[in-house]
Amino acid sequence: MTERLIPHWSDELQEAFLKAPMAFQHRVGASGLVEDEALTALLDRYPAELMDINVWDYDAQAQSTLRTGRRGGADGAAVLEAVKGGRLWVNLRQADTVYPELGRQVHAAFAELRDMIPGFKPAKVYGQLILSSPRNKTPYHADPAGVVLFHMRGRKRLWIYPEDEAHAPQEHMEAVTMRLKTEDLPYRREMDAAATVYDLEPGMAACWPVHAPHRVDNLGEFNVSFSADYQTWPSRVKCGAHIASGVIRRWGWPAPDLRRTPIAAQAGLWAASVAMKKAGLVENRISKFERTFELGRDNPEGKMTAN
Ligand SMILES: [Fe+2]
Repeated sequence: MTERLIPHWSDELQEAFLKAPMAFQHRVGASGLVEDEALTALLDRYPAELMDINVWDYDAQAQSTLRTGRRGGADGAAVLEAVKGGRLWVNLRQADTVYPELGRQVHAAFAELRDMIPGFKPAKVYGQLILSSPRNKTPYHADPAGVVLFHMRGRKRLWIYPEDEAHAPQEHMEAVTMRLKTEDLPYRREMDAAATVYDLEPGMAACWPVHAPHRVDNLGEFNVSFSADYQTWPSRVKCGAHIASGVIRRWGWPAPDLRRTPIAAQAGLWAASVAMKKAGLVENRISKFERTFELGRDNPEGKMTAN
């Protein structure tokens, strides 16, 4: 079949790509790859160590607290049922390789983007399949890579915020790129006034400038999306510069203002970050996050009362 996975493109989309939030149509996953039967079979064989099961609790000021769980003995059908019922967020990491049928479509869609957008040369494309509950809300955060979100089932409201110091403070982005913390950023409801909002239906994709913060409210339906992460040379330099700047800050030295640092100097910082990582100066603390509930055994919907 030679049908295009991104059937419509325009000069406006091309102009906006990576400069502004945007949404466009796609056909990734439209061939039955994310229907219940296929998902159940995938979940049956999905490696537990590549599965994140999260619940976010919110207080009256819309501040979130994350709890993470494990699947325990739950089979594919039980995991799917749990996600359909409540307010879970299940992230299947490395889904492009664990689920190659879907991964091939994502890579083919990126090949189309590469062809359509002069100068867009992603060096690496990978990603996760996200299954989320009708009442899930994913908190305000920024990702340490470029993202194209291919939405495939259900409805969700995506809020995208400007990538500036007020919405994505450099010091927080350093911690995010260093993986010292989960990707949450400080959020206040007033920030919503600056957001671009999309109600995503199946067959819509969205993307935004690298490091632009965003959050998601599911709209009462079970949701399936593929979050494709990519790195281009500019995004890699930007992430590396943040890592180096974060290390410098933690040494107690004055950190450079990256929003005013020319790209050539950022490239120097990126090179430094590679050396810092090799020297073991950048520690990944997220991998040690403790999992506090188990599907089928605990009730992850219950609000955490003490910890
Ligand atoms: Fe994200």
